[in-house]
Amino acid sequence: MSNILLVTSSPRGAESLSTRFATEIAEGFKVRLGGTVLTRDLAANPLPHIGQAYIQGRVAAPEARTPEQLKAVGLAQELVDEVKAADVIVLGSGMINFGLSSQLKAWFDHITWPRVTFGYNEAGRPQGLLTGKKVYVVTAAGGVFSEGDWAAFDFQTGYLRHLLGFIGLTDIEIVRVEGTVFGPEAAKAAIAATEAQVRSVLEKAA
Ligand SMILES: Cc1cc2nc3c(=O)[nH]c(=O)nc-3n(C[C@H](O)[C@H](O)[C@H](O)COP(=O)(O)O)c2cc1C
Repeated sequence: MSNILLVTSSPRGAESLSTRFATEIAEGFKVRLGGTVLTRDLAANPLPHIGQAYIQGRVAAPEARTPEQLKAVGLAQELVDEVKAADVIVLGSGMINFGLSSQLKAWFDHITWPRVTFGYNEAGRPQGLLTGKKVYVVTAAGGVFSEGDWAAFDFQTGYLRHLLGFIGLTDIEIVRVEGTVFGPEAAKAAIAATEAQVRSVLEKAA
């Protein structure tokens, strides 16, 4: 039995490949491992940008928080609780301008929280506090970034690994959809390659 958290974030709605394959992985795990899938759809229900209410509210004593701060911190706490409750996290991320969608960035801005999801050890080094979870990340991009000339411009995958690792989520497997903008045949081949990766991920889990 697993608590699976599915986080989707593409602004492309039903056309999104990261949402499609992240959903396939989450639902595939549910069938194979049992348990539940909780979906946090950041595109259908976008989070606000973080602002003063959250930044000041999260360092204020709970009883001293204004109603606005309580609301902002309460939302961040809800998002953190969802991650804490999960055994497996499946994250869908479509590349927007070489990085994350702003929808997904807003999620990280809420859950990257000193003393709650990360701290510092005695040596002063950052230490993630959300440990013991497996994370599958589906990244989708029009170009090819896993190799070749454009690899240096993949500010999505490395950044995701860093953000997740910073809060303790270091056990990460990446599934890529890439090279979908080079015509219908290339897109077909790219999708077939991702389908094979998804099958392999699910077979390993069974
Ligand atoms: C606004 C916008 C910006 C994009 N920026 C890039 C980019 O910088 N590099 C790239 O290779 N593809 C880019 N793409 C293509 C998407 O990464 C591609 O369509 C991918 O499949 C999006 O993920 P999704 O299918 O989950 O929505 C962009 C698409 C949109 C709509």
